[in-house]
Formats: sequence, C-alpha cells, structure tokens
Amino acid sequence: MILEGRQTRSIARSDDGRGVRILDQRKLPWEVCWVTLRDAPGAATAICEMWTRGAPMIGVTAAYGLAMALDADPGDAGLANAHAMLLETRPTAINLRWALDSVRAAVAPLPPEARADAAWGRADEICDEDSDLCRAIGEHGLALIQALHARHPDRPVNILTHCNAGWLATVDYGTATAPIYLAHDAGIPIHVWVDETRPRNQGALLTAFELRNHGVPHTVVTDNAGGLLMMQGKVDAVIVGTDRVTANGDVCNKIGTYLKALAAHDNGVPFYVALPHTTFDPATATGAEVPIEERDAAEVTCVSGMGKAGIETVRLTESPAANPAFDITPARLVTAYITERGVLDRV
Ligand code: MRU
Repeated sequence: MILEGRQTRSIARSDDGRGVRILDQRKLPWEVCWVTLRDAPGAATAICEMWTRGAPMIGVTAAYGLAMALDADPGDAGLANAHAMLLETRPTAINLRWALDSVRAAVAPLPPEARADAAWGRADEICDEDSDLCRAIGEHGLALIQALHARHPDRPVNILTHCNAGWLATVDYGTATAPIYLAHDAGIPIHVWVDETRPRNQGALLTAFELRNHGVPHTVVTDNAGGLLMMQGKVDAVIVGTDRVTANGDVCNKIGTYLKALAAHDNGVPFYVALPHTTFDPATATGAEVPIEERDAAEVTCVSGMGKAGIETVRLTESPAANPAFDITPARLVTAYITERGVLDRV
C-alpha cells in the first residue's frame, strides 16, 4: 500500500517484536495515527470497537492477539480463554475463526514454554500469506479489467465498490481493490465509484482515502446512487469484498451489498466478489445461517465528521434505529468470484 508516499503494510510487529502496530481507522482520513497493541485484551478491543476492521485484517490482528496472550499465559486454560475472548469480538467475518483456529492448531500440541514463539511465527505466516493472496487476487482481477478496457479503449473503466475491502481491511493490496491498484499501476485508465457506506462510511472515509493515496481517480456517491449509475451505463463492473462465502456461494458483506447486486443483475452489469480462501466457509451451507452483526443504534442516529474543534459527532434523529451491519447476496446474483486461484464461476 502507498501511504503518505511510502510503501508500507497496514499491520506489522512493533520494534520490540512483542506487539503489533496498526492504524487507528476511527481517525482516518483526518489523522494517520499508528497505535501499538501489546496484549490480547487490547487486540480484542481494537477489533470490537473497529479501530481496525475488514475480514482478513480482523483475522490477522486476532492471530497476533493470541500470540500476545500466550506471552502472558501459555497454559491450556490461557490458550482456551484467549481464543474464546478474541472469537467473540465480532461474529460475522469467518477469517477471525480461521486465523484463531490456525494459531491454536499450531501451538496446542507444543509444551507451554514453546507456545508463544510458535504462535508469533504462525501469526507472521498468516500475515505474509494474506498479502500474497491479495496480490494473486489482484493479478486475476486485472485480467477482467483489461478485458473491460479492451471493450471501451476510448474511456476509463468504471468500477463501483461498496464499503472498504482495500489495504486497510487486509495486510496489503486489499481484495476488491487489488485489481484496481494493479490496473492503475499498469496504466489502464480506471475510475472508481465509491459508495459512502452508511452508517460507518467506510467508503467515503477509508476507500476514498486509499484511492487518493494511490492516485486512482474516484468519486464518492451516496449508497443509493449505484442503481441510477448502472442504468445510465456508467458502471462497467461492481467489485466487492466479503466477510464470508458459504458452501453454496452466498456472499455475506457490508449492508447494502445485496441491493448493488440486484441493481447490477437488472442492468446486465457484472457483479464480482473478491476473496481469499480464508473467507470461504464450507461448514456453513447457505447465507441464511450466517450470524449478522447488529451494531449500536447510535451509529445510525449520529454522524461524525471533521469540525472546527476536531472530529465531531452530531445527532441525526431522536427516533429508535436498527443497525444490521451485513447482508447476504444470493449466489445467483454473483457473476464470478475473484480468488487467488483464478476467477471462478462458483466456489
Ligand atoms: O464492518 P467492517 O468494516 O469490518 O466490514 C468490512 C466489509 O464488509 C468488507 O467488505 C469485508 O470485510 C471484506 S475486507 C477485504
């Protein structure tokens, strides 16, 4: 990822090697603030309160959190308690369980005194692997964008994306954004419609911030604009990330994704879902079984932004509000899945 002109990763071990440095995404794009997580409760808070977020990034942060827990208590009870605490931080992204189970499987057979180092090692591998997976997703998605460009060589390729499935949500490149970055770097003219993504505005705040840093032309639109843009022929493809793809190919992603898929279907616009294997959940049959996170109603009733005195929050309504954070897009609305193994018609 390119941040303030520098090449860097969105998560890395701290200088002493026993903590991790992450960006506090609650402050972006207004402030670029790195924080160091030093223990498992701190990692759990960072995930739960969305200092960091996005399915792969949640998994990587939790993997490091488990390593930190084993630094403090490498016994069986310490391992079980930390695994449970980190797992309950957010319910929907399957990467969280995948990463925690992966670290636990690597360390459980070892004597307690060997567990912490092994956990840090496995977390590093998960971190490196995530970057490689996203790069591979980008390369396969690039071929799709090249094909779209060949169809209309006289104008930019217009991609619409929802939420943030970029490098802030992964270790590097992002999933939905990886093909976009690779296409831009390859000189293909590209423009991105960025859904603002109420209520937390991951699109307007985070995806737009990423694209600005990378120099990719983009326009922020309200969540309800996508249908009109597609009808007007202003969208060549939709590319989104996902928190979980079930055995039948249903896609769980940020609330509002389903409506984009419906509009894409109605207008003959291809709808692509980018994911690494760590987001595939073969143990869950269909999207109907995925736990949908219900977040605080205050995220809906209030809005935040940069005011004269810094980041300010104002109230929109006194009415009760509901805040389901994810929805399910049925497999039948997905044109293809962009994975590290290639572009697949079905998972
Ligand atoms: O609630 P968030 O911000 O964690 O939701 C993020 C998304 O919905 C992303 O699209 C998904 O996690 C994929 S990130 C590569």
